[in-house]
Amino acid sequence: MKARLVEPGFLYGNQVMRHFLTTEDWKQDELQSILDRARALKAGASSSALTGKSVALVFFNPSLRTRTSFEIGIAQLGGQGIVLDARAGTWPMEFEDGVVMDADAEEHVVEAAKVLSRYVDMIAIRCFPKFQNWQAEREDPLISAFARHATVPIVNMETIVHPCQELAMMLALQEKHGRVANKTFLLTWVPHPKPLNTAVANSAILMASKFGMNVRMLVPDEVYRLDERYMSAAQENCAAHGTSFDLLTDIEAAYSGADAVYAKSWGALPFYGQWEGEAPYRAKGRDFMVDDAKMALTRNASISHCLPMRRNVKIADSVVDSSAFLGIEEAENRLHVQKAMLEALARDMDLRA
Ligand code: CP
Repeated sequence: MKARLVEPGFLYGNQVMRHFLTTEDWKQDELQSILDRARALKAGASSSALTGKSVALVFFNPSLRTRTSFEIGIAQLGGQGIVLDARAGTWPMEFEDGVVMDADAEEHVVEAAKVLSRYVDMIAIRCFPKFQNWQAEREDPLISAFARHATVPIVNMETIVHPCQELAMMLALQEKHGRVANKTFLLTWVPHPKPLNTAVANSAILMASKFGMNVRMLVPDEVYRLDERYMSAAQENCAAHGTSFDLLTDIEAAYSGADAVYAKSWGALPFYGQWEGEAPYRAKGRDFMVDDAKMALTRNASISHCLPMRRNVKIADSVVDSSAFLGIEEAENRLHVQKAMLEALARDMDLRA
C-alpha cells in the first residue's frame, strides 16, 4: 500500500471530514466538480457559502497570488479571512512531537492547531520545505501535524505539493484545449539561479496524469527526477488511463508534438541541502529556457507557469507575451478554483453538522 502524505481526514462528531491537502486524496470526478463550479463562479455566479464562517490563512513564506486570491475569495463567499504571518506576526512554532522546546520555538503546533480550531472554521497553510533534509521534509511535517491536531479542515496553500495551483492549471488547460484526455503534457525543467521547491513540479505531473494526459518530463539530467512518491503516482495514473509517462533529457524529443508545456525550475533531490554538488547538473540545463524555437516543435502548444517567473531566464519574452501563454489566466483561476474548493469543504461541514 502507498504511504500516505498526510492524514486525509479527521473526525467531526462521529463523521470523517475532509482536508484539502493533496489532490491524491480526491478522485478525478470530485476535482472535476470543483473545476465545473469554478467555471460557473468565473462566469459570474455568486455564492454565500462562507457566510458566518472564518478561515485562518497561515503563511510561513511570502506570497502575492495565494494571499490575495484567498483573502478576496473568502470575502466574496461572505466569509472572513484572517492572515497570520508566521514569520513575523505569530510565535515561532515547533511541530515535532516529544521535543524539549528549549530553542527558538515558543508555541507547539498541537496548541496552535487546537486553539485556531476554536476560533475559525478552516485553516489554510503555506509552509515550504526548509531545504535541509529531504527524507524528513518529504513527510510534510508541519501541515501533517496541523491535520492531526486541528478539528477543522486544513487547506494546503503550498508545502511540498501545491494542489490549488494544480486546480488552476487544469482549469486553464480545459478552457484552452477542451477535453485534455490523451493530449500530451510536457513539464520542462527550466533554468533559475538557485534551487527551488519541487512542489509545483510534483503537482503538475499528479494533475496532468490524473486527467488522462500523456505526461513527459524534460530534465537536464536524471538527477532531476522528482521524489519517487510523485513519479510513481503519476505513472500509476497514466497506466490507469492507458496513457504514457516519459522522463526525457532530449529537448527536441520532449517538445515534439506536445499540446501543453508547463515550465518550472526545481532543485535536484540528491543534492538537497548540499547544493554545491548540483552546479554541474544545473549547468547542463543552461539551454532549457522556453523559447520560440522550442515552441515551434510543438503542436501549437499552450505554455504556462505558476508565477512568479523570471523572464528571459525561464521563458523568453516573446513566448510570455504570445497568445500561447496561459500564466495570467491560470493565476486568475486561483481565485475561482479556491472559492469552489472552499465551498465544497463548507458544504461538507454544513451537511454533517
Ligand atoms: N503561484 C503562487 O502560489 O504564487 P504566490 O507564491 O505569489 O502565492
